[in-house]
Amino acid sequence: MTREATSKRSTDTPAPTFKVVFQPSGRSGQVEAGVSLLDAARSLGVGIESICGGAGTCGKCQLVIEDGQFQKHSLVSSPVHASAASAEETLICEKHGLPPGVRLSCMALVEGDMLVTVPEEAQANKQIVVKAATRRVIAVDPIIRMALLTLDPPVLGDRSDQERIFAILEKRFGLRGVEFEHPALKALPGALRAGKGEISLTIWNDQTIVRVQPGIHDTPFGLAVDIGSTSIAAYLCDLRSGALLATASAMNPQVTYGDDIMSRISYAVETPNGRERLQRSVINAVSELGAQAAAQAGAAADDIVDCVLVGNSVMHHLALGLDTAQLGHLPFAPVAGGSLDLQARELGLKFNPGARVHVLPLEAGYVGADNVAVILAEQPHQQDEIVLIVDVGTNGEILLGSRQRLLCTSSPTGPAFEGAQITHGMRAAPGAIERVRIDPHNFVVSLKVIGQDQWSHDLPDSQVQARGICGSGILEAVAELFVAGILLPSGKFNPNAETPRIICGPKGQPAFVLATREQSITGNPILLTQGDVRSVQLAKAALYVGAQLLMKELGVKQAERIVLAGAFGSLIDRERAMVIGMIPDCDLERVIAVGNAAGDGARIALLNKASREEAARIAHWTEHITSPLENEFQEEFVAALSFPHASHAFPHVDQIIADRRAGAPVD
Ligand code: FES
Repeated sequence: MTREATSKRSTDTPAPTFKVVFQPSGRSGQVEAGVSLLDAARSLGVGIESICGGAGTCGKCQLVIEDGQFQKHSLVSSPVHASAASAEETLICEKHGLPPGVRLSCMALVEGDMLVTVPEEAQANKQIVVKAATRRVIAVDPIIRMALLTLDPPVLGDRSDQERIFAILEKRFGLRGVEFEHPALKALPGALRAGKGEISLTIWNDQTIVRVQPGIHDTPFGLAVDIGSTSIAAYLCDLRSGALLATASAMNPQVTYGDDIMSRISYAVETPNGRERLQRSVINAVSELGAQAAAQAGAAADDIVDCVLVGNSVMHHLALGLDTAQLGHLPFAPVAGGSLDLQARELGLKFNPGARVHVLPLEAGYVGADNVAVILAEQPHQQDEIVLIVDVGTNGEILLGSRQRLLCTSSPTGPAFEGAQITHGMRAAPGAIERVRIDPHNFVVSLKVIGQDQWSHDLPDSQVQARGICGSGILEAVAELFVAGILLPSGKFNPNAETPRIICGPKGQPAFVLATREQSITGNPILLTQGDVRSVQLAKAALYVGAQLLMKELGVKQAERIVLAGAFGSLIDRERAMVIGMIPDCDLERVIAVGNAAGDGARIALLNKASREEAARIAHWTEHITSPLENEFQEEFVAALSFPHASHAFPHVDQIIADRRAGAPVD
């Protein structure tokens, strides 16, 4: 029950019931006279914000009782079908600046049929679209909840503040066995004094009070973090509304200790304090990204109370400070594979002192929590059709299957698509070339640079301001050079291509001038060298062969849908990904690009606690396929180095190239 004011009836006269309909949910039912609208909503499964637990202090549980005849619902509704607003309710509505006609659901009692509208800001458990491309809708139901309560000054004989709080939490919120985190307990006396008895509690998993603040606070913040081998992406979310408030990204500082995961394992295992150093560097980077994202949202890192971390197995172990020695050799056995709930301060994260961290589970060996996050985001295990998901990162991860069977593998792609080990590679930041078009007839180059709204051909050269090239730009540059005939299927520059843009680059190797010195902010041309093209070939061949491996295992010739994911600058261009042979040839209608699916999955786990259990089930169910090491695999890899492939047919790519060379318009 909510308020003590809920009217009492004699038990021998059954209370009359009235029809109450809530919109926009459309849920309805018969409700006994005298029941509060908050209780009515709860009994009908309608979520209404109520951080004071129905004490009549937070002013959040707003609704409007409609006036008129509503045929659709077969009822006549009127504001007078609820109890009149008490002086107390009117005072709270005034205090919170609520417009006339708005009622507090914990105080308005049902006295007749009514149609009730719950305004957007008062709706709890909202549904939000996390994935624009696949319209992945989730219910916002985080593991963090807020509770507002007021504690009267103690009188002689009273129990402790802590015990009185526990009693209120049980009575108003139905929470039993709650405990205080030590930092929250230490903050309690000061918060009670500053709030004159009114305090907001941040509660994790209905069990632990992780933060105490004076006065009314209703917006907890959470951070979803995708720790990639080369870059880290952090997403700050409002845990009440589910809104994405800010994003921040940075290169993984562990790159200093080794570009790929094998060299980081060696560093961690062989260097004194190596493991600690690697852990500290990534944890400091995550703390810094949290602070940056919070600042963008007008908050502080101290406001972050929950965090979800995902990453491949090695990134996972290094972030947790676990021994990575076993991940360096067959059978790549992780120390810990299940999901983990930790205190942020245990890891050294500089968020709120009571903040929690949830780490998604690993699948196996090199297939990590980031892949579990991709599955959460894309839901292949819920589909009837066979889906191929290619998640492009330094350690590319590939999934194939449906609700019948789901396979995964990983491919050592290398950091080319994250801009690392590329002559002028950079992360997706202002100044990075993210789109490239090359006219196959005159080799005129058009560029789209992050930070500029227009393509380079619509700007004076001095305003292009290119600084480097990010992952999506690298992929597009290579594909466009191939379509234009400047690159041969072998990946070599075509000696017959007549363009002054092919020059002798660093170390005497051929290079293509993507941005001229006039278009570059540094005054030096931005180049794509023969070595850069080779890095792209190695990466795309690894992904293609990984996909082939899974198709062979599943016994299918093709996937019904292909999903391209990766933390690129812009979405991966599906046509150009197929042109270079990163994915099998197919009708482009069947390919979608979804951006950073691992980051989206981390956000889903942050916003919906049930998805954390789903992640644990998925990790257990998905089958990991290890790359065979025999000769046949090597031969397949070599064949996949060619654009688009040395022996597999790519009829759609042939058509794309023929159309472009015939002058077809380019998107
Ligand atoms: Fe807080 Fe109604 S639930 S005022």
